[in-house]
Amino acid sequence: MYILGINAYHGNSSAAIIADGRLIAAVEEERFNRVKYAAGFPSAAIRYCLDSAGITLAEVDHIAIPRNPWARLGTKLFYAVRMPSFAAERVKVMGRFAGIPEALGQSFEIAPEKIRAKYHRIEHHQAHLASAFFVSPFDQAALLSADGLGDFASTMWGSGQGNRMHIDGAIAFPHSLGLYYTAVSQYLGFRKFGDEYKVMGLAAYGEPAYLDEFRHIVRTNGGVGFRLGLRYFKHHRTGPEMTWRDANKTPELGAMFSNYMAERLGPARDPAAPVEKAHRDGAATLQARLEEVLFEMLRALHARTRQKAVCLAGGVAFNCVANGKIFDQTPFEQIFVQPAAGDAGLAIGAAYFVHHQILGQPRSFLMDHAYWGPGYSQEQMRAAVLASRLQSEGHEILELHEKEIAKEAAKEIAAGKIVGWFQGRAEWGPCARGNRSIVADPRRPDMKDILNARIKHREMFRPFAPSVLAESTGEYFEKSYPCPFMTQAYTVRPEKRKEIPAPTHVDGTGRLQTVSREANPRYWGLIREFANLTGVAVVLNTSFNDNEPIVCRPEEAIECFLRTKMDVLVLGDMLVRKPESAEVPR
Ligand SMILES: [Fe+2]
Repeated sequence: MYILGINAYHGNSSAAIIADGRLIAAVEEERFNRVKYAAGFPSAAIRYCLDSAGITLAEVDHIAIPRNPWARLGTKLFYAVRMPSFAAERVKVMGRFAGIPEALGQSFEIAPEKIRAKYHRIEHHQAHLASAFFVSPFDQAALLSADGLGDFASTMWGSGQGNRMHIDGAIAFPHSLGLYYTAVSQYLGFRKFGDEYKVMGLAAYGEPAYLDEFRHIVRTNGGVGFRLGLRYFKHHRTGPEMTWRDANKTPELGAMFSNYMAERLGPARDPAAPVEKAHRDGAATLQARLEEVLFEMLRALHARTRQKAVCLAGGVAFNCVANGKIFDQTPFEQIFVQPAAGDAGLAIGAAYFVHHQILGQPRSFLMDHAYWGPGYSQEQMRAAVLASRLQSEGHEILELHEKEIAKEAAKEIAAGKIVGWFQGRAEWGPCARGNRSIVADPRRPDMKDILNARIKHREMFRPFAPSVLAESTGEYFEKSYPCPFMTQAYTVRPEKRKEIPAPTHVDGTGRLQTVSREANPRYWGLIREFANLTGVAVVLNTSFNDNEPIVCRPEEAIECFLRTKMDVLVLGDMLVRKPESAEVPR
């Protein structure tokens, strides 16, 4: 039985397909149309999912859409009366949702009535919760979803047992931890969709100097809940102005903070102005208050559910800094956050919701790796290399045995070279985890600046991530609980910080990926070889891209390699070196 999950007309549009409960494929549309956070109809992602399953659209049994227009209708109507422009926008969006069968028919040249699949509309946060719990290693767990807004709610919690979830409560618009983080990020001059993670990186450079004020911006009451101090915001008056629907554009957001926030905290930062102490402290306070609220909610959730394990989903679950402290700040002993915890993950959440909660099928699947996107054969990679400018521009091209590739690449990394590492199937979720990665030497204090100057062009306050052999985690980090999806930041042991300065953030933490041999034998092999050479079982890992979605196809990897000042490219069993003359002095 095939279930297709589709997250359409919403940020991070995506598709996923499961066959008899087993995940076959999951991918974001941005990897195909090359528009970051693309929000349209994910026809290429759906096509890839169907091809991976070896079926046509006509053979799909169920189609799961993570959006329920009837959810919280009362609240929607209440605000529709007060915000007519927002209401008009919503009506248009709902029109698009109602048209999903037609959009499918158009994309796949099939009459909508020939699609025999049953359609299911799954409420946004229930899909988020399902995306975490039903693929987790836990038979029972507490569940929390927190994001900006979906189906007019921002937060939902409950518990899961076997193949069932029980919803315990929810928080509706306009109260939202995601919108809190977005609004304050905007106030701090970070206005683009998806900029929140930059502010999370900046937070480590400041002090939480404004906590008293921020406790008015988000208020708690000791339970699993919170309220926004609405005077600081304007989204409840204007509606969250989002432009979601154009597949060819990254979504845009209107300003959500009010003049009152600027009155209380000082003028908002112009995005072009320098980042000063007040902004660093603002970011630190934003993060500190988020953590206070989140931990208070999780403690209350633990008291209600008495579970050992917690599954988190929604955009707030990407806050790896907060996630890394959950074991210290709450009684939870186990955590699971699936790699696409944000809205892309809704595609698998909706599909698994149908499989378990609606059809009552037993649990049988565990997501133990993140490699659910497109993969390419050695022949395809070789053809891409031959069709490119690599040879004519004098690059050295070697084809080696798998073991030799890891050895050669590890040597290059240890010699300070920047290596593009392209292997296997693309990662699901926003981070590269060793299949579409740029890998560098973590021992060099200047490697962060070199990477930024030569390839990534990111703000200096954003950290790079360490990938560590799973079996060596406790040697480098103060916690060793597995973190295969880079969803937690752990403190690097003080005595190890000098050994791996490049991916150690200014506050002494690292947003780590624990790499097991089972989950990714090739990447594990690379780190193992690097450890054999240097005695350090860690490499620096950043996504294979340059201000664009992570590369997906070999051709994109080659283009990115040629365009940037990367030294070496590994594609499957091929290793490509830039000609000496092309190297740029550091
Ligand atoms: Fe969401």
